[in-house]
Amino acid sequence: MAIDSSTSEPKRLLFNAFSMNCVSHIQHGLWGRDDTRQTEYLSLEPWLDLARILEAGCFDALFLADVVGVYDNYRGGADTSIREAMQIPVNDPSLLIPAMATVTEHLGFAFTSSILAEHPFAFARRVSTLDHLTRGRIAWNIVTSYLPSAAQNLGFTDLPLHDDRYDRGDDYLEVVRKLWESSWEDDAVVKRPGCYAEPSKVHKIDHVGPYYTVPGPHLCEPSPQRTPVLFQAGSSDRGREFAARHAECVFLAANRRSLPDIVADTRRRAASYGRNPDDLKFFLGISPIVGGTEAEAKSKEADLREQLSIEGGLAHMSGSVGADLGILDLDRPLADFDFNSMTGIIKALADTAPDKQWTMGDLARRQMSGQFMTGTPEQLADRLEDLANRGADGFNLVYTTTPGTFVDFIDGVAPVLRARGLMQSTYREGTLRDKLFGHRRPRHRLAGAGTAAD
Ligand SMILES: Cc1cc2nc3c(=O)[nH]c(=O)nc-3n(C[C@H](O)[C@H](O)[C@H](O)COP(=O)(O)O)c2cc1C
Repeated sequence: MAIDSSTSEPKRLLFNAFSMNCVSHIQHGLWGRDDTRQTEYLSLEPWLDLARILEAGCFDALFLADVVGVYDNYRGGADTSIREAMQIPVNDPSLLIPAMATVTEHLGFAFTSSILAEHPFAFARRVSTLDHLTRGRIAWNIVTSYLPSAAQNLGFTDLPLHDDRYDRGDDYLEVVRKLWESSWEDDAVVKRPGCYAEPSKVHKIDHVGPYYTVPGPHLCEPSPQRTPVLFQAGSSDRGREFAARHAECVFLAANRRSLPDIVADTRRRAASYGRNPDDLKFFLGISPIVGGTEAEAKSKEADLREQLSIEGGLAHMSGSVGADLGILDLDRPLADFDFNSMTGIIKALADTAPDKQWTMGDLARRQMSGQFMTGTPEQLADRLEDLANRGADGFNLVYTTTPGTFVDFIDGVAPVLRARGLMQSTYREGTLRDKLFGHRRPRHRLAGAGTAAD
């Protein structure tokens, strides 16, 4: 039984549906199936239905990924990505949120925005607006981008270097947190005749940092959460340092084996910033495939696997690792290649194969289906408990079909988890942060970012 060490009660696990405002998100090649609504992404109906389903299932949030560039380095270009609808076309995630908020009361909305994509002053206003319209249900997934095409479209000559992107992220976070936390005092809005807000209680922030100079004041009055719940995704050494400093929730790229060390290491780093290490929550991506019997689940998985697009997977991986995996013959065993003549990234990737008879196609298939968690509701609940015992606080559920993956989980696995005390059956009152953490404001303050009371 997964136990919460602070209360000695079963650990309540957190569940987000992971999606993207596009046709094909992670498991490529499946959008043409009859049992998925991926190609309906342009209209509001599937999103409203999904929000209703998730709230009825007591999910914590819908988590929306995003990219602001095209994966254009596979076989030297973007053709495969475009053909496979692999994260292109992709629409703005945040614009879906107000509509979904009108048909729900409690569901949280986490959306991804890269620190390269928008100036922090404009971004802070967009988030405050969303937090007002949803009455405090917004989370921001802070990412630093990895696609050179994104950076080039956004006015950079090329993708800034890895650690430089995180340095820029530190400055970006200082700007937005000052705007959210210390520009408007709690009692600035008085709504007296002739005086909507008290000018002496609305402050400039006068931020001068290495990347941004922002005088302020913030354009929005304080929203219910002020600062949205802060997610971070990025697992390198520098990424963990960034998470330890800024994040409340961390979306990890980890597996069962690497999970405990990454969690312990990030908590240790958080403590070095004077934070309570238990104030961070860690989420893993999983792709559940549920069946009434193990055989049924396995046959569902086999059917899905058959349709997975290896080309789509390789175009995705090529963009993520920054190397064109199309230069390899996909059907030749990795043992046949001289990796010394190739980029180190491809060699490092090839080294992850358990067997040198594997091909790059096998690796792509594993990349997509590696997160498959297949079995009966009881088997899945056991595996989630095991991951919880190894440090996971929650899960981002990757879909194979939408909303089918989420419906199967809610109908099959959620009741088993609830019987074990591991999943909520009603929502706590309050904002998303109240629901996740039991407090209204982030516990950690940035230097100079104000000290608004809880
Ligand atoms: C689990 C996970 C999810 C991510 N989701 C996104 C995303 O939706 N959009 C994006 O631009 N980058 C995303 N990233 C990329 C990170 O923000 C970061 O740019 C990348 O992982 C490189 O940083 P790292 O070396 O610290 O991991 C994600 C990373 C991880 C690990």
